[in-house]
Amino acid sequence: MSGMPCVILISGRGTNLQAILRAVAEEGLPLDIRAVISNRPEAAGLEQARRAGLPSYVLDHTLFADRETFDRELQELIDRHVPQLVILAGFMRILSEKFVSHYRGRLINIHPSLLPAFPGLNTHRRALAAGVGEHGATVHFVTEAVDGGPVIVQACVSVLAEDTADTLAARVLAEEHRIYPQVLRWFAEGRLRLERHSGRDCAVLDGEILEASEHLLPGEVKQ
Ligand code: GRF
Repeated sequence: MSGMPCVILISGRGTNLQAILRAVAEEGLPLDIRAVISNRPEAAGLEQARRAGLPSYVLDHTLFADRETFDRELQELIDRHVPQLVILAGFMRILSEKFVSHYRGRLINIHPSLLPAFPGLNTHRRALAAGVGEHGATVHFVTEAVDGGPVIVQACVSVLAEDTADTLAARVLAEEHRIYPQVLRWFAEGRLRLERHSGRDCAVLDGEILEASEHLLPGEVKQ
């Protein structure tokens, strides 16, 4: 397969993985997915990877003494596949600084909130509890600050009066599946980079710094 060599990390059901696989198969997203790795043996996404004929691996974090040992092993497994990009697609582990700096500029994550709002877990429940009118998803470069790396793209959804965490999550997820393949395409085409400008990390697309305040509205895709 042609395309940018990459490795995808998952922990669960793998719907973002599925969206990426679909974009590769049907929309010519230029990625050469060399491996899918899960830290949970029961992750449903592993089955999708196998069905797509991709090498899949389980590295069960519960079998490791500490985060550093797990991350070291994970790094070794990833690097065997020589990726130019490591994609976190619902990977639910905090990664150590050493790991993150090893992949600086080639590690991308999707988070189910409009960062910097609601980093961490249970974002939909917390968004409802906070009474926000807008919620969404963020694709960002991963840096040492957890959920704090430079934003690449955000997609907003309006919060409805009748929303539960599940209905809100479903609308956000649909946006995730739309924006993640788009961002990965930019990266694979060499248009997107992590750069330092005036002492801060910035996501740069086609030579222009993407500001965190540039939200994408539903249905809009910035080219
Ligand atoms: C997504 O909401 C993603 O943003 C978050 O975890 C969830 C994973 O879902 N990090 P899936 O495994 O891709 O279906």
